Amino acid sequence: MDSFECQACGPVDVRDPFSPFCPGCGEPLFVSRPERSGRRAIREHAESAIEKFLDFLPLSAFDAKLSLGEGNTPLLPLNCLGPRTGLSRVFAKNEAQNPTGSFKDRGTAVAVQKAVASGVKSIGTVSTGNMAASTAAYGARAGLETFVLLKEGTPAAALQASGIYGPHLITVDGDYGALFHKSLEIGKRLGISFMNSIDPFRIEGYKVTGYEIFLQLGRRAPRFILVPLSSGGHLLGLMRAFEDLEREGMIADYPTFVGVQALGCAPLVQAFEAGRPTYERLKETRTIAHAISNPAPPAGNATLRMIRARAGRLVAVSDEEMLEAQRELAAKEGLFCQAESATTVAALKKLAGGGVIGPGDEAVLVLTGSGSKTPPASGPSLFRVHRMSLTDLDSQLFGLLTSKM
Ligand SMILES: Cc1ncc(COP(=O)(O)O)c(C=O)c1O
Ligand SMILES: [Zn+2]
Repeated sequence: MDSFECQACGPVDVRDPFSPFCPGCGEPLFVSRPERSGRRAIREHAESAIEKFLDFLPLSAFDAKLSLGEGNTPLLPLNCLGPRTGLSRVFAKNEAQNPTGSFKDRGTAVAVQKAVASGVKSIGTVSTGNMAASTAAYGARAGLETFVLLKEGTPAAALQASGIYGPHLITVDGDYGALFHKSLEIGKRLGISFMNSIDPFRIEGYKVTGYEIFLQLGRRAPRFILVPLSSGGHLLGLMRAFEDLEREGMIADYPTFVGVQALGCAPLVQAFEAGRPTYERLKETRTIAHAISNPAPPAGNATLRMIRARAGRLVAVSDEEMLEAQRELAAKEGLFCQAESATTVAALKKLAGGGVIGPGDEAVLVLTGSGSKTPPASGPSLFRVHRMSLTDLDSQLFGLLTSKM
């Protein structure tokens, strides 16, 4: 039996399995770290990412039938952008290489393992994009009846990205923040397990990214880890991973985490800069970064608390900065991520420019999602198309060649 705890109230005796919130204060719940007699071991030779770190997860076994091969994503040195920002060691953890193109698969994979092991027959999620596709795919894999609730007006491409897996696809007219809470109420009544952005088992799944970074760097923590921030689930998972490693005595220094929001929707950055313990819900948002545009992040206060406790930072970048970073990552490094993920590059530039991150500091940017699912927001003027005819193609190409033979 798993036990749960709240940052503010400590261990929680009775938990509603259909709610991710503490019954006492309404903040998110986390799975408590079990007391263990022996040390936790990393099964380095296991093929599956989850199995490798099973000792650190609330799973008694790994059911390979439910997996889509999530995780084990590359940690790539940014050989061009690193030196451009004056840093010699910058890496991208490319989460776009997950089965449905985003980090969400790691969380969904663990939540679905847990759901199936507990006899759950139907699952659901409330999402604008990545989590919808991820939940629909894992639901299909596990043979679960899956409900995907999306905002009315969701573009056709986003509907298709999850619809193809055959869930009940439902668009809902009304306030998106209220829908999150309503889904939990309905889930409890109808027996549908809604694994939304801050589900405690989803957060456990996100920890695996942190363990992988540790292994990929040769069993070390980097100095900085930069992550796009919306609900707070992902960042909290990564931070908990390094706490686990710290508790096991596996790392000497805890990394500095940087959560990055879009300037047009930055309730947590605003609270952080003002020194407030809780954030204020925004009345309106204005950003192209829809995947991280959340005016009332459900784990917002927990994120503020944890970032402060571990001397992290929260920063905001503009739409222009993230779009430029998205183009640079693609054109200079061959990595096409979502604009939301490129916020990490824009933040790195800002912090390196301001002297917060120094030339000798090692930084890891978590590229959370693939750009190929969502077309670049700035449209076709992004690149020039040359028009040529077949007859003079060779001379025209020669004209373009910068390094003439
Ligand atoms: C591409 C991408 N990056 C970052 C995030 C933010 O993650 P979280 O809501 O766990 O903070 C999301 C959330 O949907 C996302 O889709
Ligand atoms: Zn509480």
